[in-house]
Amino acid sequence: MSNDRHQTRQRQKGLADDVSRRQFLQQAGAGGLAVAGGAAGFVPSPAPARPTGPQGPSAVPLILYVNGKEHRLNVEPRVTLLDALREYLGLTGTKKGCDHGQCGACTVLVNGRRIYSCLTFAVMQTGAQVTTIEGLGEGGRLHPLQEAFVRRDAFQCGYCTSGQICSGVGLLSEGRAHTDAEIREQMSGNICRCGAYPNIVAAIRDAKAAQSKSRRARP
Ligand code: FES
Ligand code: FES
Repeated sequence: MSNDRHQTRQRQKGLADDVSRRQFLQQAGAGGLAVAGGAAGFVPSPAPARPTGPQGPSAVPLILYVNGKEHRLNVEPRVTLLDALREYLGLTGTKKGCDHGQCGACTVLVNGRRIYSCLTFAVMQTGAQVTTIEGLGEGGRLHPLQEAFVRRDAFQCGYCTSGQICSGVGLLSEGRAHTDAEIREQMSGNICRCGAYPNIVAAIRDAKAAQSKSRRARP
């Protein structure tokens, strides 16, 4: 027998041995499982059926008033106000940071009060007046706090900025920003990863001073 033919035979024999070893192990494994299962009285339950179709309540109609405009939407009840603003209305100025009520990037004003829009469902705000960063300016002019942020260079990457400004506007209307320490305390729900805090406080201080001045100047 030539050397080549001998090697081919050896390879075929090896494959045959391999297959029969595999068959043996499969049969032994199945038998072993049956024995082990029987000994413990355990009958494996069938895999749970895969869910089909929608799992939650379907979309419901709602009316949101955002920046003075009425919007009629159909959204599932699980949709947050943040997602409704960004995904349904295209108002992407409101940012999603943590989506868990920890960073303040999603802050908007609802009926004049600052809230985390990631922590409220859109359906809970039906009929409410929502103001986002896009709606703060008037007549083509920035809001005085937006101007102060620019003047004071109160941002770096800008990701937290719309939330900071909405929160600052809410704070000014609450009338509680009397000192830098109060501003820091009252703005503590808005995190800035870039650490622009000194300039943010300065911008709010400026806007507060301008607000007080214009109040005093009123007849
Ligand atoms: S995204 Fe809402 S608090 Fe962070
Ligand atoms: S400016 Fe970057 S996170 Fe605040």
